[in-house]
Amino acid sequence: GRVAVLMGGRSAEREISLKSGNAVLSALLAKGVEAVGIDVDSHIDITLREGQFDRAFIVLHGRGGEDGEIQGLLQAMAIPFTGSGVTGAMLSMNKRISKLIWQQQALSTPKFRLVNAETDPQELVIALGLPLVIKPVHEGSSIGMSKVTDGEAIAAAIRLALQFDQDVIAEQWINGAEYTASILAGNALPVIRLKTPREFYDFEAKYHANNTEYLCPCGLTEEQEKRCQALALDAFNALQMKGWGRVDVMADQQGNFYLLEANGVPGMTDHSLVPMAARETGLDFQQLCWRILETSLE
Ligand code: DAL
Ligand code: MG
Repeated sequence: GRVAVLMGGRSAEREISLKSGNAVLSALLAKGVEAVGIDVDSHIDITLREGQFDRAFIVLHGRGGEDGEIQGLLQAMAIPFTGSGVTGAMLSMNKRISKLIWQQQALSTPKFRLVNAETDPQELVIALGLPLVIKPVHEGSSIGMSKVTDGEAIAAAIRLALQFDQDVIAEQWINGAEYTASILAGNALPVIRLKTPREFYDFEAKYHANNTEYLCPCGLTEEQEKRCQALALDAFNALQMKGWGRVDVMADQQGNFYLLEANGVPGMTDHSLVPMAARETGLDFQQLCWRILETSLE
């Protein structure tokens, strides 16, 4: 059948999505799939109807594409699609709700507060300590995020995040190492460790810096890696996510893991993290795209 590869859209991660989407499109075409790349705009319902698509591969990052909106449209049009459904997409795109659900299920996540322009920086420092992280609730790729090491910088960091989102959280900083666990068809893939000389694994470290290190194998003991994978899988399931995704985790110096966030449509450029983890299990990029496409029918 015909597959619509949905990419682009109007979120702040549009450019990343176009890269991911074109990589997926090329891989599916190389596999002999009758795939068509579509840059999603306000006429997407008409485009899907006229194109007579049987399935959609969602490679949209951020709001409008990773948050339940496009998922709801596809569901209403009875077009099967990859990844999480409306609920899983909505819950995972919202970092605050994700963390509330994880806390409720006793899955470890750093302490946090909802903040706004009136938040008292001193109270925040008392509650969360320093450093702390300010982040938009519904954003990806670290857009609008700041790591704050000085209470004086909190107000400006909140103002910056508010430019991207009405909802902003402050989160306790976990001093340690960052890891990510990819989820594919009910299993956690090998964990990757992210190492950057920057303050944190920010937009620059993710997409531009050439001194970001990706370690896979990640350097954890087998027992620790299993624990990290189990936590990530529990976190994924707790948010009712489906098909595939990626869960970002910090480990403190005692080896305790803390959930940062879950991504329902992780980056799929050929140097992205899910493809890297898949490769470690012997699955190349084309096979990975095929496998994700298959999950649209599960
Ligand atoms: N939000 C970016 C695309 C990721 O999680 O990979
Ligand atoms: Mg994200």
